[in-house]
Amino acid sequence: MTIRLGLVRRGGKQRHLITDDLVSPDRRNFYGRIRGKTLRASQKTYLAEDLGGLSLQGVHRDDNPERLPVDLSRFGQRSLWLEIGFGGGEHLAYMAELYPDVGIVGCEPFVNGIAMLLGKVRAAGLDNLAIHPGDVRDLFEVLPNRVVQRAFLNYPDPWPKNRHHRRRFVTPDYLHALARVMAPGAEFRIATDIPDYVRQALAEVPQAGFDLVLHSGIAWEDWPSTRYEQKALREGRVPDYLTYVRDAGGGPAER
Ligand SMILES: C[S@@+](CC[C@H](N)C(=O)[O-])C[C@H]1O[C@@H](n2cnc3c(N)ncnc32)[C@H](O)[C@@H]1O
Repeated sequence: MTIRLGLVRRGGKQRHLITDDLVSPDRRNFYGRIRGKTLRASQKTYLAEDLGGLSLQGVHRDDNPERLPVDLSRFGQRSLWLEIGFGGGEHLAYMAELYPDVGIVGCEPFVNGIAMLLGKVRAAGLDNLAIHPGDVRDLFEVLPNRVVQRAFLNYPDPWPKNRHHRRRFVTPDYLHALARVMAPGAEFRIATDIPDYVRQALAEVPQAGFDLVLHSGIAWEDWPSTRYEQKALREGRVPDYLTYVRDAGGGPAER
């Protein structure tokens, strides 16, 4: 993939090449941010030089309109883990370094977060992670059944207004798509600081074919914390950590 930086005019409209052509989610109903403040020169370099090689090919619709299964051969025999919405990549880079025998895919459409992760990948010389710079739903479409051995959802967007709760990840469409790609017995971890998100997770996640095995105020032993968690703690909010296991039977998600 060749990555150029800057602006072009197309169809009379000015477009940001990175964010609109490479990072933008294929979905129309993605409500989050894909661009933030101006990138530093070093971050532009990481995006230009490293993002192409780290990106999974065949996830965006333009590259794979038939939605054929994505090529995961870069990970060889490694177990596959998935992080949904990695933000600045603190957890993703930490896990990749801690578990070199695992292959981890991180999804994130926010270009500034992707650039932050790329800096961490360079600094640590990580070779066991890949990125989908976009919406996780596009990745779900091209992942084979039962391929993910562990999934992480850290501080998902809270969507606090009642009328926006259906945008949350812990809703049937997202959860069934996740359940389909997770192996029986695979672990699904959720960290959040929003009590109403916990309520919705406890109600919805089991219905998609997951069993709750731990609900704790104490994080997992290998938890490095994240930027959003640090912000939550500074602001006096209390995290919840939920651990689910994908039903051994395959469950209702394989529809
Ligand atoms: C509140 S932030 C938390 C970031 C990070 N996990 C942390 O703990 O610092 C939620 C992140 O999820 C990402 N996100 C939201 N919807 C997503 C989707 N459909 N696919 C992939 N990432 C998504 C957002 O872009 C955002 O960076």
